[in-house]
Amino acid sequence: MSDRLTVAVDIAREAGALQRARFSEPRTIETKSSAIDLVTDVDRACDALIRKRIGAAFPGDGMLTEEDAEHTGTTGWRWIVDPLDGTTNYAHGFPHFAVSIGLERDGELVGGTIHDPIRDELFRAERGAGAWLGDTRLRVSTIDDLERSLLATGFAYNVHSAENDNLPYFRRFMRRAQAVRRAGSAALDLAYLAAGRFDGFWELNLHPWDVAAGLVMIIEAGGRTSDLEGGPAPSSGERIVASNGLLHGAMLEVISG
Ligand code: IPD
Ligand code: CA
Ligand code: CA
Repeated sequence: MSDRLTVAVDIAREAGALQRARFSEPRTIETKSSAIDLVTDVDRACDALIRKRIGAAFPGDGMLTEEDAEHTGTTGWRWIVDPLDGTTNYAHGFPHFAVSIGLERDGELVGGTIHDPIRDELFRAERGAGAWLGDTRLRVSTIDDLERSLLATGFAYNVHSAENDNLPYFRRFMRRAQAVRRAGSAALDLAYLAAGRFDGFWELNLHPWDVAAGLVMIIEAGGRTSDLEGGPAPSSGERIVASNGLLHGAMLEVISG
């Protein structure tokens, strides 16, 4: 593993340990962009911890983390961090959430790690060196028809009011796939797709920190990522389709209606 990925894995484990240790404690919960967009004391604590650790290890690197202002670096490296992906789950005591740390070099995603501290699963990937869960190399699934596929998606925090939301796509995929899951952590959805547990994923209105690590992981596991029309996957996180590759065309067709 490269130096930065090794440090990213250590930091993800440390933040994950904090999430696990405080999981059963009383929460301080505030709202952000809407009444259903939550941030907890643990999101903020993990964000601060991760920034401190990155700053100490690689002081010249840039940082984009969900709960603080962007920090511009001087080295060409940028860390793209969701300190706690699955905040609604965390706030309710639903044990499905993760730390996601992506690594970008000169504007290109080159590696990342996603850590689920409840199951103690640490996913990692590096461009050209594969995607891994512990010592196991990850490969996407071989399911090649939608009717046998398990898909994953999620809904943005503007779902109560947005006109262009995910509900029409959700309805279409529910009628075509074997099943669709909405488990509440986009980072874990993407890691699970890389691990062959899900066969496809789509979502609108994600953010860079939700997808940075997962997009690299899927490519390294042999999958495909794109926007909703089949163009390059936007690193902004908006309008993402990801799949084992075999289902990609069928998913794009469902989306195009
Ligand atoms: C959310 C989760 C969820 C997705 C939302 C994200 P957060 O991230 O990844 O699965 O559907 O769009 O915002 O707020 O828990 O970090
Ligand atoms: Ca997130
Ligand atoms: Ca988050």
